[in-house]
Order: sequence, then structure tokens, then C-alpha cells
Amino acid sequence: MDQIVIRGGQRLKGRIPISGAKNAALTLLPCALLTDEPLTLRNLPRLADVDGFGHLLNQLGCSTTIEGSRPEDFGRVMTARATTLTSTVAPYDIVRKMRASILVLGPLLARAGEATVSLPGGCAIGNRPIDLHLKALEAFGAEIELASGYVKASAPGGRLAGGRFTFPVVSVGATENAVMAAVLASGTCVLENAAREPEIVDLCNCLVAMGAHIDGIGTETLTIEGVDRLHGATYRVMADRIEAGSYACAAVITQGDVELVGANAAEMDATLAALREAGATVEETKAGIRVAMSGRAEPVTLSTAPYPGFATDMQAQFMAMATLGTGASLFTETIFENRYMHVPELARMGCDIQVKGRTAIVRGVEGLVGAPVMATDLRASMSLIIAGLAAEGMTEVNRVYHLDRGYERLEEKLQAVGADIERISAG
Ligand code: UD1
Repeated sequence: MDQIVIRGGQRLKGRIPISGAKNAALTLLPCALLTDEPLTLRNLPRLADVDGFGHLLNQLGCSTTIEGSRPEDFGRVMTARATTLTSTVAPYDIVRKMRASILVLGPLLARAGEATVSLPGGCAIGNRPIDLHLKALEAFGAEIELASGYVKASAPGGRLAGGRFTFPVVSVGATENAVMAAVLASGTCVLENAAREPEIVDLCNCLVAMGAHIDGIGTETLTIEGVDRLHGATYRVMADRIEAGSYACAAVITQGDVELVGANAAEMDATLAALREAGATVEETKAGIRVAMSGRAEPVTLSTAPYPGFATDMQAQFMAMATLGTGASLFTETIFENRYMHVPELARMGCDIQVKGRTAIVRGVEGLVGAPVMATDLRASMSLIIAGLAAEGMTEVNRVYHLDRGYERLEEKLQAVGADIERISAG
């Protein structure tokens, strides 16, 4: 298996292009199932998960073609067209490898009146049930059966009727599935306590471009008036705010100065506030955001929360950054129950972190030492890269496939700003 090898201690300086957002791409791709016309997505990141999703769309009868990228986009342009669906089944083998496959449930149900999707099962950062996805669809009129590890959903009469659902807990994925199911309903669907993440706004804007009627975009109440059909559209995927935040943490820990080109400050308030709390200079520039740091990071107190709160997807990277801070930082993880898997690996590099239930205290140390490490999920892997960039000596990050799921051309982007980082291919 590939490895990423870092020799730490280089100050990052320069410009880093920010790719299209993975999590937006994974909810925009299934929108292609909602119409027989082509959906063209620009600025799609080159990531294993995006390729995997394209493969799933193909299995359902949706063709995908990839064109070269435009000069202003780092990523690719994909046109997906589901002229007719040839299957409404998302099999176990695909769903187990890529949780986001569950996001075909809503659109298949809306378009075909039925969908059979494998249950995703547990994953490295907690149990991650899908009960809220199913309850929202039921509230809109779906009939749901669970059998042999599969969810079988159907819409009586072939079309969802409409209804109202209040989420007891904010869920990004369940909001996405419910919105995609609702757009072709025969009546009106209302979602309360819906997720407000920028990726949901991106999804809604794309659906509106396809002819959907959605009110309250960006708020916790979404009102979707079903339409008879949607049409094709061309839509540009938003910038990846988590990728941008990750590189910002890398800039701070190396006491560097980087410009995150294409990043959108308006979608990153909580991350930028946390960077300022750590003592970084954060400025909006014409092209994106500049993050610069001199000296060691000051301690931070961060608690993860749904948007606009501090993102759980940024927790591991800020924790890595805080390991070289001047004092004790306090982290509270409120979204996922098992999201401190990076802690033992960071400890191997000389970090001082104590975990108690959902909180972690990180006491800043004077220096980190490189080590062979590996992580069990994407953001945890990135935290090890960040620590490795500042550690003395060599850090070997294993299980690189996690990083390939979510960071486009990681080594190339970091090399360009001065990092000593390379991928060693297993052959
Ligand atoms: C999405 C993101 C992920 C991010 C997470 C939280 C994608 C592909 N993934 O994941 O990167 O970390 O949002 O911002 O966009 N829950 C239930 N029942 C459900 C659904 C969720 O109890 O049916 C719980 C979860 O266990 C968790 C919380 O709700 O505790 C939030 O999860 P959710 O927002 O759904 O995360 P995902 O959509 O899976």
C-alpha cells in the first residue's frame, strides 16, 4: 500500500488552490438521477469517492462522461445523464465502501417511486445510523421495509405525497436525502431543524437550477413544493471549506503564510474564528483567504456543532495544530461518539493529549518527533499529515487511501508551498 513520507520542519509559504468540495460533490452527483436530461457539474474534485459515486450512478443506468477542466477550475467537469434508470438497487458492495451511496435513496424514490439501498453499517467514527433518513421519507409518504441488510422504500402510486418532518437531531445526510426525495413530490414537503451546512445550500441551489421549488435555503426550515419534472443544468461545485481549513492548520503549525485560493470566507466563519483564537492572521484576499502565523499557536477551546458551529470535520486538524501550542487546549466532540481515533497516533509523535469521554485536553509541547503512523478515517489522516509537517525527522503516514478519498493532489499542493512530502508507491 502507498505511504506518504514527510520530513517536517519546513515553513509553508505560497498559494494553495482549493478544490471543489467533496461533501458537496457527493450530494450533487445523485441529483442527476432526478431528471432524464444531463446534469453537468463543474469543479468536481478528483477523488476516489467521486469516482466511486460515478461508478454507482453507472450501475443505475446513468451515463457519466468526464471532460477536461477549465482553466479557472482545478477539478473536472462531469456530465451525468439518466435518460432511463436501469436499476433502483444500490448494492452492499458499493455502499459498504462508500457511505455516501445512501444518498441515492431519496432521488431514486422520487424518480422511480422505489429504491433498494444496502444499509451502510457502522464506520470508524461511530455507529452512524440512518433512522432519520428513513423517518423523513416516511413523513413524506414513503413505505419503508428493512430486510436482509437492505432498505426497500416505495412511494404508493409511484410518487411521494408530501408532509412535514422535524429532525430531532440535525443531520446533514438525512436533510440531503429528504430534500432530493421531496423535489418531485405531488404536494409540499416541510423540513424543520434541517441542516444548514453550505453543502446543503449548494445542493438546494443546484436543484433550483434544475427547476425545483425550495424556500428557506440556508435556514433551518426548508419548504419544498414538488414539481412534475426537473430539467438538466450546469452547476459549479462550491469550494471545499474543510480542505481549506485543513491547509490553514498546516500553515499555522509550520508558522507559515499561505493563501487559500478559491476558499470562501463567508462559509468558514467558525474555522476562521478558531484560527484567530490561536493567534493566526486571517485576511480575506481577492483570490481567497490568507492565513499567516508567527510563533507558536495559542491554546483554543473548541466544541463541535452543526453549522454554523465549529465543524466536526475540522476537529482532528485543529487538535494536531494545538499539540505545539503554548498552553492547554480543550476540545469537545458533540457530533460523533468515536472521533478521537487520531489521538493514540498523535501520541506516538510526542503529543500530550488526554481524552475523557467527549472531551480532550491537549497540552502544547515544545516539539514533535516523526514516526510511522496510520489513521482510521479521512480527517484523522489529515491530522497526522499536519503534525508530520511540523515534526522533527521523518513521518510515514500509512493507509493513504483515506486521504485519497478526500484531499485532491495533497502532496502536489503541499510540495508547491515548500513542504518536504512525497508519496511512496507500493508498486
Ligand atoms: C456528513 C458529512 C461528514 C460530516 C457530518 C457532520 C458527507 C458525505 N459527510 O455526514 O463529513 O462529518 O456530516 O457534519 O457529507 N444521525 C442519526 N441518525 C441519522 C443520521 C444521523 O442519529 O439517520 C446522527 C449521527 O450519528 C451523528 C449526527 O446525527 O451523530 C450527525 O450526522 P450527519 O449530519 O447525518 O452526518 P453525515 O451526513 O453522515
